[in-house]
Amino acid sequence: MWNILKFKPVKRTGFWTIVQGCLFAIAALISVMTIMTTRSNLANRMMLTDTSHDPGPAEATCVFDSLETARTRPLLRAVVAYFSVSQTAVYFDQLKWCMRSLLEIATTEPALWRTDLIIYIENVTIPDLLDLGCSTTPRQNASEPFKCLLVEYERVQDRVLSANATEYERNLHEQMKEYPFIDSIYALVEHASTYSNYDYVVRSDLDVFFPPAFSHWIPPNCAFVTGNGAYSDPYNMEKLAMVANYSGIHFNTTIWNIGSTWIGSPHLIAKVAARTVHWMIHLSKNEFAPKQRTSAWWSMALLWPEWHYGVVLLYGGHLAVNEVLQSGKQHPFLKLDLDHPTTSTANCTLNGPIHLHTYQNHDYFSKYVFSSRLYNETYSLPSVLNSTRCCDYAGYMAADSLNMTCAELKTRLRTAKLS
Ligand SMILES: *[C@@H]1O[C@H](CO)[C@@H](O)[C@H](O)[C@H]1NC(C)=O
Ligand SMILES: *[C@@H]1O[C@H](CO)[C@@H](O)[C@H](O)[C@H]1NC(C)=O
Ligand SMILES: *[C@@H]1O[C@H](CO)[C@@H](O)[C@H](O)[C@H]1NC(C)=O
Ligand SMILES: *[C@@H]1O[C@H](CO)[C@@H](O)[C@H](O)[C@H]1NC(C)=O
Ligand SMILES: *[C@@H]1O[C@H](CO)[C@@H](O)[C@H](O)[C@H]1NC(C)=O
Ligand SMILES: *[C@@H]1O[C@H](CO)[C@@H](O)[C@H](O)[C@H]1NC(C)=O
Ligand SMILES: *[C@@H]1O[C@H](CO)[C@@H](O)[C@H](O)[C@H]1NC(C)=O
Ligand SMILES: *[C@@H]1O[C@H](CO)[C@@H](O)[C@H](O)[C@H]1NC(C)=O
Ligand SMILES: *[C@@H]1O[C@H](CO)[C@@H](O)[C@H](O)[C@H]1NC(C)=O
Repeated sequence: MWNILKFKPVKRTGFWTIVQGCLFAIAALISVMTIMTTRSNLANRMMLTDTSHDPGPAEATCVFDSLETARTRPLLRAVVAYFSVSQTAVYFDQLKWCMRSLLEIATTEPALWRTDLIIYIENVTIPDLLDLGCSTTPRQNASEPFKCLLVEYERVQDRVLSANATEYERNLHEQMKEYPFIDSIYALVEHASTYSNYDYVVRSDLDVFFPPAFSHWIPPNCAFVTGNGAYSDPYNMEKLAMVANYSGIHFNTTIWNIGSTWIGSPHLIAKVAARTVHWMIHLSKNEFAPKQRTSAWWSMALLWPEWHYGVVLLYGGHLAVNEVLQSGKQHPFLKLDLDHPTTSTANCTLNGPIHLHTYQNHDYFSKYVFSSRLYNETYSLPSVLNSTRCCDYAGYMAADSLNMTCAELKTRLRTAKLS
């Protein structure tokens, strides 16, 4: 049954400490690394010492093991993502097109399904987001229409340690203060209860589109599903295997490049997220030199693709997935075509990819060309969706999201299930 979601009050924000231009470059780099796919094949011991935060969702049995049954029942999916207030203009564009694609999902998914958006953000009173209908009021029951939930989250770099801070909090702050991507994962650890009442959770960025196939998709066999990253080279794999070995956790040397987009049950998402943060702190502290942890050093990516601090989030996730899922022995694990590029001419039909992600380039559909508003009379975006190509799906959704006012998008999302 659906229970009222609980919230933990959160503290205030501070100020922006890292040079922003540099950060954009880093963000671009990490995304390329995350998304670009090379080779890939298919695919609890040390507990967190920290007990102060969210206990997270309880383990659930695999209820929706068959799509046929699931289609006739209420089913709740949540897309969870971090919104960077310091880059509001860019993130707002992406949020709007992502929501526009979720409108498409709302109108085509089974009548009793709901797919919500949960956003972790430093400031929950930004007018543009409120205009889109986003609020801090969680879903009350399974029949309410689409929800965009804002959850107040304080960036790790802004936190001020109190005298009684736990060792975990000190380590987190000390190790991750120059690694802004920590927020995209730590928010899921700290606020796991915000998604605990959903059946499936999609951990994603906002510069993504949900294509038609997502409208009737659930993880096969309740598996934990990831896309591909591109961080695994032989040296890194040996290094990660060594860490796994001296830490006494399972490690499968044949599973490479576990991406940063994950789909799974709330319990597993919370658990893998918590262990990812654990391993990130461990690697940062023990396997990187202090100089390597400074953003000034790692943003140069001198070692890439070998042992690059910029992707410590992915290294942490790699160890966490090995540890928690044990190559599918502990829990079903699948690598699928998530983060499918928005430049793709593949068919985004009901059998197509279930998740599209923008790359760091200027090819159609490009988030850079779009955010510079350089799709114009000469290089225009589709004004009707008369093609099945993924690039056109993304292009149309983005164009239509610009065309729509916030109020219109909000209303259409609220009423999508009524018509
Ligand atoms: C490693 O993963 C592969 C592919 O998922 C699987 O076939 C194999 O049994 C796993 N090996 C171990 C030792 O877990
Ligand atoms: C949050 O955003 C609102 C609207 O832009 C602004 O008035 C307010 O000062 C911000 N709050 C904080 C804590 O930054
Ligand atoms: C679900 O919650 C909404 C908002 O509180 C309420 O208006 C509606 O009546 C509820 N529906 C059911 C079936 O409980
Ligand atoms: C830590 O100290 C602060 C005051 O400095 C207090 O408000 C807080 O409750 C303390 N936390 C714990 C876990 O003891
Ligand atoms: C670590 O490596 C040693 C030596 O190869 C091996 O005996 C041991 O089983 C390994 N431990 C784990 C957890 O894989
Ligand atoms: C897309 O689907 C059409 C019609 O089924 C087919 O002819 C075409 O080859 C497909 N395109 C790709 C890139 O798979
Ligand atoms: C249209 O966009 C292209 C690049 O996408 C740019 O070169 C051109 O100047 C733009 N034209 C106008 C009229 O803005
Ligand atoms: C699709 O619509 C575009 C206008 O955006 C038009 O130029 C094109 O001819 C149409 N294609 C088909 C197959 O109808
Ligand atoms: C945007 O709105 C204009 C004017 O209403 C319309 O001509 C155009 O087709 C719309 N484009 C999209 C992508 O909806």
